[in-house]
Amino acid sequence: MTDFVLEPAACGYAATLHGLDLAQPLDEATLVRLRAAWRDYPVLCFAGQDLDPARLQAFGAQLGPFGDDPYVAALPGFPHVIEVRREARETAPIFGSQWHSDWSFQATPPSATLLYGAEVPPLGGDTLFANGYAACAGLSADFRAWLKTRHGVHSAAPSYGPQGLFARDDATRSMRIIVSADAERSERHPVIRRHAESGRETLYVNHVYTVGIEGLRQDESRAILDYLFAHFTRPEYQYRHRWQPGSLLMWDNRCVIHLATGGYEGHRRLMYRSTLAGERPLPA
Ligand code: SIN
Repeated sequence: MTDFVLEPAACGYAATLHGLDLAQPLDEATLVRLRAAWRDYPVLCFAGQDLDPARLQAFGAQLGPFGDDPYVAALPGFPHVIEVRREARETAPIFGSQWHSDWSFQATPPSATLLYGAEVPPLGGDTLFANGYAACAGLSADFRAWLKTRHGVHSAAPSYGPQGLFARDDATRSMRIIVSADAERSERHPVIRRHAESGRETLYVNHVYTVGIEGLRQDESRAILDYLFAHFTRPEYQYRHRWQPGSLLMWDNRCVIHLATGGYEGHRRLMYRSTLAGERPLPA
């Protein structure tokens, strides 16, 4: 087994891991310990890595089956890697800049996202996270109990549908986004889910893909979702990840939401991203 050291961040749910070279295959005992560390720290940063799409894909393959990434074209030759790219002169809205959990509109949304900083701007471009476990625990017991009886409706239509954000996109966007009528489909997931590995309850709604609460009128859904979104992203539940070149971030979409920030106009930002398959969200 290869030993590694964890350096927790003040927020309590993120940590930097030192001591592993992800360009090399990891033995089974190390992978088991890594999974346990990720359960404790759902936002895990591997500093000082030397990865490219091939190495990122090889690392992802050791952790489990890949997820399905439907609306961004994969890199040629790397079916499980997409680029999150923004050129220095791009003016299109920043990809992923509203709070979301990756692909939560899928029947089995991804467990993990792996994001590698290949070209990191000298300033800005941080990724923000919010902690679903803490947000869930921070609700009153009665409201939480009622929310456990509810399902959120998740859809990619507002983003990737024919009338969605990316259908009206700015021609300067360098990412290869795929707009499709498939995005009109929706899935229902528990508003509070039980994490399949930690067994803990976590809030599972997000601003981008949760479009309603099943069984409620649209105005009722809107009011409750707006409250939950504001609650989920309270400053005390947030963590800001400041990128260094060569960092790989692995986050758990089942219990955190995230967004990409700007502030790096005039600089290029290039990340490689893979997702790992998840399971159908369990009720709490
Ligand atoms: C994403 O939402 O996957 C992208 C996050 C980032 O670019 O920081």
